[in-house]
Amino acid sequence: MTDVRPTTEAEGVLHTLFRSDLGGHEQVVLCQDRETGLRAVVAIHSTALGPALGGTRFHQYASDEEAVLDALNLSRGMSYKNALAGLDHGGGKAVIIGDPETVKTEQLLLAYGRFLASLGGRYVTACDVGTYVRDMDVIARECRWTTGRSPENGGAGDSSVLTAFGVFQGMRAAAKARWGEPTLRGRRVGVAGVGKVGHHLVEHLVEDGAEVVVTDVRADAVERVTARHPRVTAVADTDALIRTPLDVYAPCALGGALDDATVAALTATVVCGAANNQLAHPGVEKDLADRGILYAPDYVVNAGGVIQVADELRGFDFDRAKAKATRIYDTTLAIFERAEADGIPPAAAADRLAEQRMAEARGPRTPEVPHQSRP
Ligand SMILES: NC(=O)c1ccc[n+]([C@@H]2O[C@H](COP(=O)([O-])OP(=O)(O)OC[C@H]3O[C@@H](n4cnc5c(N)ncnc54)[C@H](O)[C@@H]3O)[C@@H](O)[C@H]2O)c1
Repeated sequence: MTDVRPTTEAEGVLHTLFRSDLGGHEQVVLCQDRETGLRAVVAIHSTALGPALGGTRFHQYASDEEAVLDALNLSRGMSYKNALAGLDHGGGKAVIIGDPETVKTEQLLLAYGRFLASLGGRYVTACDVGTYVRDMDVIARECRWTTGRSPENGGAGDSSVLTAFGVFQGMRAAAKARWGEPTLRGRRVGVAGVGKVGHHLVEHLVEDGAEVVVTDVRADAVERVTARHPRVTAVADTDALIRTPLDVYAPCALGGALDDATVAALTATVVCGAANNQLAHPGVEKDLADRGILYAPDYVVNAGGVIQVADELRGFDFDRAKAKATRIYDTTLAIFERAEADGIPPAAAADRLAEQRMAEARGPRTPEVPHQSRP
């Protein structure tokens, strides 16, 4: 998916929103509360499948325009992710502008909650970079359309558990497509980043009988994994990991993990990991395919977290959410099949399938019965 970005200075965010093929958002709301210093952007890309769902990012942007563009791009991404996760939710995302370390206060979050409540449920929020479960608990005091809350407040808590489970399902699908069996048994899997999601993923892999190699910039994160699983080995950095003979590479740290140099050096023939926005630039998906590397699209396999928070709206039930995350296996396989049939990379096939689901939902609606005119 290409990001929205004005190509000339004259093409500001409004041009992007109203004129470009990459905009098309239904609603963008700017919020300001001078008393608390709140400045926020809520972008609702689509409600074709249901209320827009996506997290709130709290971040110090280089400019206000950057903040709006980020909200536009992220919300559009959520439409695709939610569509393929099989959720009855459209895509939305919000950004609060400012350094969370210095700007975030309880009063600011409450003011933000009141703005979200005014949208009447068209946008449902959750955690993202810079916002945490405890922040969602505060926002929820003003807005009932808040997920990612703590279990004490009716929430699902840490979403990394089902995110890792979903990535594992995607990886099983990739193994089935590549080697004919939906298992990682006997495969060597390299996990880059063993934080919240990565260390849960290692658990699944070890249990399945894979040989696991990990790396992380934090020595304590690596030690936590190797202490628990003595057969898991560690290498110095991501550069060393991608050069290690691997069957599967699982980027579970930051975005942009798949750049030209990495794709050229990869020994793995499958890439499947939790990190968001793994493709560093448009065209990488084709380079991967040209090298015979099967790429499981990031937003498809890492949807376990959004599946988890969406379930909160029905009164959280872990088993129900887990059953839904299990379907990531079928979705990933369907994407590989579509890619094969259409002769396109899996990332493009995922976009097509998501667009198809959204278009079908937008299809012809039953016309409303006109109001009877009063006698
Ligand atoms: N937590 C979720 O539910 C969730 C859901 C969807 C997507 N994701 C994505 O998955 C990725 C991991 O999320 P997380 O919640 O586990 O984050 P996290 O911060 O807990 O873990 C990331 C780990 O990567 C390590 N790391 C950072 N830079 C690295 C580098 N250059 N090389 C190796 N390791 C490095 C960090 O030290 C950390 O241990 C992120 O891209 C996130 O956006 C997470």
